[in-house]
Amino acid sequence: MPSDLLTRLQAANAFDAAPVLHELHELHVPFDELGALPPPVVGAWEQALDAALRRGERVAVLGASGEGKSSLMQYVLRPTVEALFPLPIPVALADASVTRDPISFVEHVVAMVERHVVHSLPARAGATGRGPSSNVAHSYKWSVAPELMGVKLEVAREVQAVVENSPRTGTEAVVTAQLLLEVIAQAGLVATLVLDDTDKWVRGPTGQVDSEQRDDFFGTVVRVIAEHLGCAAAVAVHRSYANDDAYRAAVGGFLSSVVDLPRLGGPAAVSRLLEQRQRVTQLPGEPGEPVDAVWSPEALERMHQAYAAGAGRSLRWLVQLAHLGLAVACDAGAARIEQRHIEAGLRELAD
Ligand SMILES: Nc1ncnc2c1ncn2[C@@H]1O[C@H](COP(=O)(O)OP(=O)(O)OP(=O)(O)O)[C@@H](O)[C@H]1O
Ligand SMILES: [Mg+2]
Repeated sequence: MPSDLLTRLQAANAFDAAPVLHELHELHVPFDELGALPPPVVGAWEQALDAALRRGERVAVLGASGEGKSSLMQYVLRPTVEALFPLPIPVALADASVTRDPISFVEHVVAMVERHVVHSLPARAGATGRGPSSNVAHSYKWSVAPELMGVKLEVAREVQAVVENSPRTGTEAVVTAQLLLEVIAQAGLVATLVLDDTDKWVRGPTGQVDSEQRDDFFGTVVRVIAEHLGCAAAVAVHRSYANDDAYRAAVGGFLSSVVDLPRLGGPAAVSRLLEQRQRVTQLPGEPGEPVDAVWSPEALERMHQAYAAGAGRSLRWLVQLAHLGLAVACDAGAARIEQRHIEAGLRELAD
């Protein structure tokens, strides 16, 4: 008899390994909670990042691919967080000059801050031509973005007004960027640059271009943020950079702290992560199902064991395994996910 519960979880895509970025914070279980299952370490991750950003520091979030860097940053800078004002600054696909040349980087910051506020604010009547182009406007016109409530909404409007009327190229862009940060600070908010794609310069087959851009980033950009902008920043750092000279030189200097993501300590942590996924994808009004209604203890044990056995096995890998295990169990018409379904999922992942 196929389990209605499993079928519903599958239909809701409860274990989607690549959810859209803005949903990550809802699925996030604090590592401060997960890392404690066992050993009892608290405060080393979310609390540490939050506190360092509030002190205005530049913080590296260190982890391998899929280990949870974006998830942690999205959670700490989630829409409802008080007093932090995140400014996403994508750089991985930007022109190489953005990471090489301080002025180009600051010009890029001004452009990205403007793009962020324009996309987050509701369209204004008679807005200038700088707003989102018509082919993307549909995603923004419904209402104000949820992160822009109260004082943040006022600040975003002010930022938009300032940036529209200020120079954005050359050395004057530095003054504009400082002015924008000042507007945010005066409202009692901590402007936080979010550099979430800087872990994308992983050593490619050719290596050279990627590593140059990466060295420029840690040598130039991080320093510009510290010295010329003086604002908080959260920077995703791929674990493979940990031995790079430019990164090591930045740590303890312009990068004042490092939040190093933990591995999950045992099946209880796996269970907690899956429970959160199930809870979030539960239909509104329905009571949340306990984890043991969905997963047998042996299945959870096996998942943790398989995750712990391979260095390249990340939380994304674990969520993928959960997804496959669920699919196999549904196909088999099982009442809950058993160890044999996880074994079948592992075989699929290995293919
Ligand atoms: N603490 C967590 N609680 C719940 N789910 C998590 C947690 N951390 C990561 N995940 C899940 O693991 C997957 C990968 O996470 P994320 O995208 O944050 O990794 P990443 O380190 O940013 O990867 P990449 O190197 O590709 O940028 C996502 O599906 C995410 O929801
Ligand atoms: Mg990421």
